[in-house]
Amino acid sequence: MCAAPTSDFDIELSLLLDELLARYGFDFRDYARSSLRRRAMNAMRAERLETLGELRDLIVRDEAAVERLLLALTVNVTSMFRDPEVYRGIGESLVPTLRAYPFTRIWHAGCSSGEEVYSMAILLHEAGLYDRCRIYATDLNEAVLRRAREAVYPLDEVMARSEDYQLAGGTAKLSDYHTSSYGYAIMHRWLRKNIVFAHHNLVTDGSFNEFHVIFCRNVMIYFNRRLQDRVHRLLFDSLRRFGTLIVGLKESLVYTPHEHEYEAIDARLKLFRRRS
Ligand SMILES: C[S@@+](CC[C@H](N)C(=O)[O-])C[C@H]1O[C@@H](n2cnc3c(N)ncnc32)[C@H](O)[C@@H]1O
Repeated sequence: MCAAPTSDFDIELSLLLDELLARYGFDFRDYARSSLRRRAMNAMRAERLETLGELRDLIVRDEAAVERLLLALTVNVTSMFRDPEVYRGIGESLVPTLRAYPFTRIWHAGCSSGEEVYSMAILLHEAGLYDRCRIYATDLNEAVLRRAREAVYPLDEVMARSEDYQLAGGTAKLSDYHTSSYGYAIMHRWLRKNIVFAHHNLVTDGSFNEFHVIFCRNVMIYFNRRLQDRVHRLLFDSLRRFGTLIVGLKESLVYTPHEHEYEAIDARLKLFRRRS
């Protein structure tokens, strides 16, 4: 059972989460409760149901509803060159280090529909490093992973990021990286060739490689302290010595289990290097 339900709605929410875990293995019990309440309520309304009990019944008999529920319970907002100053910082502070490695493994944990991943691929390409990199991009959500693999985005959304691309230090044009067709931007195939998109759940799955760079941006912000600690241990264990961890601008390593085993490359941009 989930901890400390405080109302009928919370009890129903706990039962829903227990069902999701027992039947499908997705564990949301340590997600931040207030946002989860709001999101469960939205999911219930979107399915035109009156109670969370009905939503629970629905996921028992309809697997397609589970995918919709996962999407509703998570926040999938992302964009190309989101927080462009971070990419500029990566170009200035991290890329010189990466040049010293013969090969670089990068993990985007919680990659959503892939825009963050393609942004990094573009940055690496412009630095002349893409062919020496393998990018692993993972998410809990199959629906967003499908979009990431397809790499087809609404053209207006991509075009709206042209300025961020320039602010990030882009040296060409964002439109050089896609073709346009019927209102969609189709990212070039060569940009996808060193990227592996895969399912990975930060709550329940373990480490699967040792990385030089890990992005986990705007993911843990939706977790409670206990789950944040678990994920920080996983990320630390997945990072090689002197590897770089990049978290979201609103996230922090303060009071996390390995806080003192990192040093800031750029504290404002949330770029951290594992000390040893
Ligand atoms: C707000 S998006 C962040 C996307 C990207 N990192 C960025 O900053 O633009 C959060 C992503 O984390 C994923 N996520 C949430 N819980 C997860 C978990 N337990 N394991 C893996 N991914 C998870 C969600 O599915 C969502 O795609």
